[in-house]
Amino acid sequence: MSIKEQLKGKDLLTLADYSKAEIAYILELAVQIKEKQKNGELYQPLKGKTLGMIFEKSSTRTRVSFETGIYQLGGMGLFLSSNDIQLGRGEPISDTAKVLSGYLDGIMIRTFSQQDVVDLAKNASIPVINGLTDDYHPCQVLADLQTIKEEKGKLEGLKLAYIGDGNNMAHSLMIGCAKMGLDVAVAAPKGYQPHDEIVEQAQSFADGSEVLVTEDAVEAVKDADVIYSDVWASMGQEAEQKEREKAFTHYQVNKKLFSHAKQDAIFMHCLPAHREEEVTAEIIDGPQSVVFQEAENRLHAQKALMVALMG
Ligand code: CP
Ligand code: NVA
Repeated sequence: MSIKEQLKGKDLLTLADYSKAEIAYILELAVQIKEKQKNGELYQPLKGKTLGMIFEKSSTRTRVSFETGIYQLGGMGLFLSSNDIQLGRGEPISDTAKVLSGYLDGIMIRTFSQQDVVDLAKNASIPVINGLTDDYHPCQVLADLQTIKEEKGKLEGLKLAYIGDGNNMAHSLMIGCAKMGLDVAVAAPKGYQPHDEIVEQAQSFADGSEVLVTEDAVEAVKDADVIYSDVWASMGQEAEQKEREKAFTHYQVNKKLFSHAKQDAIFMHCLPAHREEEVTAEIIDGPQSVVFQEAENRLHAQKALMVALMG
């Protein structure tokens, strides 16, 4: 079976379910789709198709990039806030999946529990895309890999250092980097490190590259090509903000920490960012930051993903 056929109808719950060749295929398609968009070329392989987008958490990038993305591909997006659909009033996720499968051609969901996304996919007969859970953010990592390739011309052999909370972004970056041949080092304080089973899983995917978890931010950043950070308190953890600010004090990406990376290292962040918390304004607004290119690539990478899964 060709990669194209393999991807048709597939869910994206975590990048762990995707082979290196499948990820490379989507990234290549994303480059072509970005070029078409830049040239003003109409490309509408999803004419007549509808993507439902369930949101149980806030979003700027994910919502706007999926909604405009499906529109640009000739289809339409339906924003389904969990406050407005019956899911928010307790309708089972399995019933929701079966009902929506009768109307839609794909579902994107942003929620808390990964298990909900798994259950949605199990009960839906159309592709389900994880638009962020507490544990994973695979769509972000597709755009991140596209951005790294644009900036560095390759993926294999590079080193990415992630500084901060060991949750969704750290997990998905570890998996994505390990699959695509980048070394990945995660620095997080005790109590906030990535889940052991996901670290082990990422290590099992690495073919020659390294997956390291440490408490030492300087060790992680040493000779890195990419420095990545994320908020200290994720959506749903707002009440822990103060306690987390304390725990993460030594995990700010600033000029001093950055000086341990390669000279031409780039700075990445999934956004939204809190300046002077996880990263200084000097770094995120500085010449080595690619955060807005990275945000834009959400559009191109996800259009490629939708064409691959829903085309
Ligand atoms: N990076 C990201 O997913 O942003 P939003 O929360 O705005 O969608
Ligand atoms: N870790 C962050 C990522 C936001 C895109 C969160 O879950 O809120």
